[in-house]
Amino acid sequence: MRPPVAEWVAVLDFGSQYTQLIARRIREHHVYSEVLPHTTTAAELRARGARGIVLSGGPASCYEPGAPTLDPEIFRLGVPVLGICYGMQLMTRALGGEVRHSPEHEYGRTPIQIERRDPLFDGVPSRTTVWMSHGDRVMAIAAGFVPLARTAGCPVAAVRHQSLPLYGLQFHPEVSHTPEGGWMLRNFLVEVCGLGCSWTVGSTIELAVAEIRRRVGEHGRVVCGLSGGVDSAVVALLLDRAIGRRSTCIFVDNGLLRAGEREQVEQTFAQQFQLDFRVVDAAERFLERLRGVTDPEEKRRRIGHTFIEVFAEQARALPDVAFLAQGTLYPDVVESTAPHGGPTARIKSHHNVGGLPAELDFQLIEPLRMLFKDEVRRLGDELGLPPEITRRHPFPGPGLAVRCVGEVTPERLAALRAADAIVVEEMRQSGYHDRLWQAFAVLLPVRSVGVMGDRRTYESACVVRAVESEDGMTADWARLPYEVLARIATRIVNEVPGINRVTYDITSKPPGTIEWE
Ligand code: XMP
Repeated sequence: MRPPVAEWVAVLDFGSQYTQLIARRIREHHVYSEVLPHTTTAAELRARGARGIVLSGGPASCYEPGAPTLDPEIFRLGVPVLGICYGMQLMTRALGGEVRHSPEHEYGRTPIQIERRDPLFDGVPSRTTVWMSHGDRVMAIAAGFVPLARTAGCPVAAVRHQSLPLYGLQFHPEVSHTPEGGWMLRNFLVEVCGLGCSWTVGSTIELAVAEIRRRVGEHGRVVCGLSGGVDSAVVALLLDRAIGRRSTCIFVDNGLLRAGEREQVEQTFAQQFQLDFRVVDAAERFLERLRGVTDPEEKRRRIGHTFIEVFAEQARALPDVAFLAQGTLYPDVVESTAPHGGPTARIKSHHNVGGLPAELDFQLIEPLRMLFKDEVRRLGDELGLPPEITRRHPFPGPGLAVRCVGEVTPERLAALRAADAIVVEEMRQSGYHDRLWQAFAVLLPVRSVGVMGDRRTYESACVVRAVESEDGMTADWARLPYEVLARIATRIVNEVPGINRVTYDITSKPPGTIEWE
């Protein structure tokens, strides 16, 4: 389908972890952008009216058999193309140049010399730093191309065609470690593609609403899993705009929620927004299924299945529902599956990705699938969601179960919930809440000896986890003031029965993940 915007740029995905980041960076310059599979043909891109095409990086070597390739007609469309890393190598090879394995691998921040001035480098100093991550490189540029820049280990670090709007960069302009990368992308959009940069968050809402209407049609009905987090809340309001009461929101109380969560969600969606909102009390069923289970993936699997069961029962009770809407975000997708069949490794099976649709007879609607959290927050603001929802920290689908390391029992959950409420309260009090990506408590299956009021205690240890992150894909532990940590520790040990020790997690992601399971 042609996106209902006048100007947009396609990003063809060759399997890089950064592919969506490229699309997001382009959107930051107020140009709509979508990621498409690398198999998208020139004819499709023409029909969809793409005004620019970016070829992403990727883990393969373009000269190996079976490496992802592209329709070479794309280079003859007359539409500007920017090949990044693998994308540049693929373009070079497709147009007659040579790419080979390089003895000088370059990884990380690398000084670069821009040797030929070009609109792509307008406003960029001749010497700057770029982020490199490659083992192959261009050995001979294709006919008609000229080199634009070099690094110590890579004599062809940027190229352009002399008469066609074709560009290649060996480095990654989309990552923040390339300080001038934003300018280069802007130059590609404005100077090379000639775009007006007038797209806004409001246009995303229009696009999503139009797409929902197109998919659901005049009479279709949708059921929406509402968790109360910002993602599903935004989906619920988009559905409300698109099809009104033909959408029903179901909130499953799985007994794995945070303190006061159910009440807050009911208040917001049933009373304030007056959506068709239903609460299902399924806590007992979930806890029963989790009895005795300690393996993290098994917990996730059982929670996912139970969720499907509960959902299916509720949805079947509604007449003619053919669609299921979910608030899946891009980072959930990239860590659970490989988008567009690209070779991205699976890290955790996030419970709202995969699983559900295969077993349910629903078509899936995921309007946020290509967006990052902060983009969704901006959508939420625009849709009128209260800040308590849009600024809420992310909460995993499997809820407190993946923060209750070891067996999930009602008693352990109660202790974890109380400790978590203290962490969140103290973050709000100290003003740190809105500066952090997440702050929460984790209960460990470890007991330690303590002393309280001259009496020996032998109780559980808990962990406080607070991280800063832009999108949840990488994270750094928060350098909280000692006083804040001290207050949290004192309160938890004094107020929460069953916990006598508090530790602080100082692991970043990678190598850790944000959640413990
Ligand atoms: P990890 O632990 O993988 O988490 O570093 C990255 C971000 O994703 C959240 N998360 C989930 N979100 N369903 C979700 O919707 C899940 O199953 C899930 N597991 C983790 C996590 O809270 C963090 O923000």
